[in-house]
Amino acid sequence: MRKNIVAGNWKMNCDLPMTQDLIAKIITELPDTLNCELMVAPSHPFLYAAFNASLETPIEVIAQNVSQHENGAFTGEVSIDMLQSVGIQTVIIGHSERRNTFLESDQELAEKAKAAIENGMRVIFCIGEHLEQRKTGNHFETVTAQIEKGLFDLTAKEWKQIVLAYEPVWAIGTGETASPEQAQEMHEHIRKFVADKYGDKTAQNVSILYGGSVKSSNATEIFAKPDVDGGLIGGASLDATSFIDIAKAF
Ligand code: PGA
Repeated sequence: MRKNIVAGNWKMNCDLPMTQDLIAKIITELPDTLNCELMVAPSHPFLYAAFNASLETPIEVIAQNVSQHENGAFTGEVSIDMLQSVGIQTVIIGHSERRNTFLESDQELAEKAKAAIENGMRVIFCIGEHLEQRKTGNHFETVTAQIEKGLFDLTAKEWKQIVLAYEPVWAIGTGETASPEQAQEMHEHIRKFVADKYGDKTAQNVSILYGGSVKSSNATEIFAKPDVDGGLIGGASLDATSFIDIAKAF
């Protein structure tokens, strides 16, 4: 059965004291039970501190990016092995900011996903269309092409390590959210696309998160949709109370 997941993407925010403070506040706000997995993605330099702070809590500390290369002359990059050596087992790959600002290609993202999966990591693979693509009716095609190019070399067994995050670019950091109906329509389309390639079992077991201006005020109605299995949260994850309120929406 697929899992509900609420993951906070802290992006390039929070230095060490802020990271420690935010984790501590999230821990303080944790309710006795949560009906979802809870993850936070601080910046690379603070992963180890965050990982240590998360021990004996239900919080999983995850990374925002990883290199597809094993090691060597890749200045500024961080390897899978490095992440794993500080306790990290899940990584976000293909966030729209990586695709659009850092021009990571489908090919590169496929290599990253493959390398992470082969090394036993879980991958949150992001996909999503630009506003123009939605306006011209190409949003389904755009998103399924991203999945096909990024993940269709993987086996059904490897897909057990995949979580998808549908994040329409026009809704990220803009305050504009896809309606619950728009999210459901896309998630259903994605699940069907995965089912056509890998069969129903794989498709039913993959968690598909929605991301793009999710807040405590809209999380409940978005998460209520049958094919929405959680959220990838940017801005609202930087405030412990709103982040936990979003997680409580399950
Ligand atoms: P946002 O970001 O919640 O601030 O829109 C989501 C994301 O980029 O993952």
